[in-house]
Order: sequence, then C-alpha cells, then structure tokens
Amino acid sequence: MDITPVSNALGANVSGIDVRSLDDSDAATLVEAWAQYGVLFFRDQKLTPDEHLTFARRFGEIDINRFFTPVDGHPEIAQVLKEPDQEHNIGGGWHTDHSYDQAPARGSILYAREIPPIGGDTLFAGMGTAYDALSRPIKELLGGLRAVHSGAQVFGVRTKHAEATAGRIGNPEAVGDDVTHPIVVAHPHTGRPLLYVNPAFTTSIEGLTAAESRALLTFLFEHGRRPEFQIRFQWEPGSLAMWDNRSTWHFALNDYHGHRRYLHRITVAGDELVAAH
Ligand code: SIN
Repeated sequence: MDITPVSNALGANVSGIDVRSLDDSDAATLVEAWAQYGVLFFRDQKLTPDEHLTFARRFGEIDINRFFTPVDGHPEIAQVLKEPDQEHNIGGGWHTDHSYDQAPARGSILYAREIPPIGGDTLFAGMGTAYDALSRPIKELLGGLRAVHSGAQVFGVRTKHAEATAGRIGNPEAVGDDVTHPIVVAHPHTGRPLLYVNPAFTTSIEGLTAAESRALLTFLFEHGRRPEFQIRFQWEPGSLAMWDNRSTWHFALNDYHGHRRYLHRITVAGDELVAAH
C-alpha cells in the first residue's frame, strides 16, 4: 500500500490496496494515516453496500445519520444524491458531519457510484493547519472558549431547504438540543489541537455577547476556508474518500446541473471531544 500526501495542509492518496481485503496490519496503517492526514482518497474500488459496511466497521461503530434517506435495505448507509432535475445538493456549504451531537462522529466514508462527467468535486479544509496559523493571542483566547452547535439550521423544521431536499433529507423533529464543544479540541488519536467550529452547525460562542460571538465566528469561518488550508477532490465512479470529522471541513460543489450524482455515505461513531491544552 502506498500513501502519498496531496498537500501540506491535509489529505493523502492511498493506492495499491483493495479495501475489500484489508488485513489487520493494513487497517492499523490506515488508522494512523487517517489521523495524520485527515482525509484519505482511494480509486477504483468495487464495493457492494455490505462490503462498504465491512470496511467502515474496521474503524468503529456505525453512527446512523437520522436525517438522510438511507439506501434500501441498509439503514446504516446514507444516500448522497442529486438528480438531473434537482437544484439543491447535499453538503453544499462548509461543514463537518455531526458536530451537533454530544459525541460527534469520528469520520465519514463516502463511496462514489455515479458521478457527473464534469463537476461535483468536493473541497476539504484542514482544521489542524488552520489552528496552527492563528496568532498566539487568538489561540489563548480560543483556548478558554466553548461554542454552541445545532443541527436546526440545516435539518430542523424551519430550514429553508426543506422543500428542495424533500425525499432526500427528512425527520426534522430529530434535531436534538444544542450542544457545546471546546473551540480548540485535542485530536482524540494524535492530541493535535484542532479548530472545532464550522459554518453550518456552529451558532454562537458561550459567554460572549451576540455581537462578539458573531464577529469571532465570522473571522474563524473566513480563516478556516483560506485556500492554503484546502484541497479539492475530483470523483470518479469507484472513488472512496474517508475523512476525519474532527480535523476537517468539507464542501460538496454544486456545479453539475442536469446530471446525476449519487454516493453512499457511512459515518463512523466518535467520542465526546475534550479541549486541547
Ligand atoms: C457530505 O457532505 O457528506 C457529502 C459530500 C459530497 O457529496 O461530496
């Protein structure tokens, strides 16, 4: 198996492996690489839904997403789908999956089944590198703060996208109470400090006035998407990406109207996050 970094910020290509036939040593190598690079990309994989699940279970329990329409007969696999006549895509804004949960998902493993001829790439941004680039005084300020996360804006009863995503996203009553996480969390595997806020689900900062909270989050959201923290992945049918939800953001581009894009996503459960020291 070869693992080749794709940028200084995050991401690595993994080649020379069929993920259907991993042995324990391959799985251990991938666990380390996943934690180190944040997102791993594989090409030309041929996976049934059951094989996809077997691969994902190598990395933990499955965290069933309560809002996505599942694949028929596979409640653990979420459909990420846009039909040729649909305008709104899923995941078309910077976010990290499940930050609205008390114990956010460890990562997501997305497998491409149908990809438009051009377009439909996914951007990823590295929150370890984003944190490192902050000045010492801002790091000190953030180190003592917790942010509030909510799924309501995206999945709740009042989301503005309800009509556009009907049939693909549902169950708005499953949005739970808001949760809080430290703004700077320690990566559970490496201990690396990570900036843990995201534009889709982080709504405010505990203890700050509304104006302070808005100003600081606006800065952090702008900072997190600086081009040097980003990479861009071009999908092909059979591509597989596994990203760490603690250390990365992602953004599914919506630039392929008139074409179908269909992927299967499995999310791996994680633990409650603790502040970095
Ligand atoms: C997602 O946000 O989980 C989907 C990403 C993608 O479709 O590229």
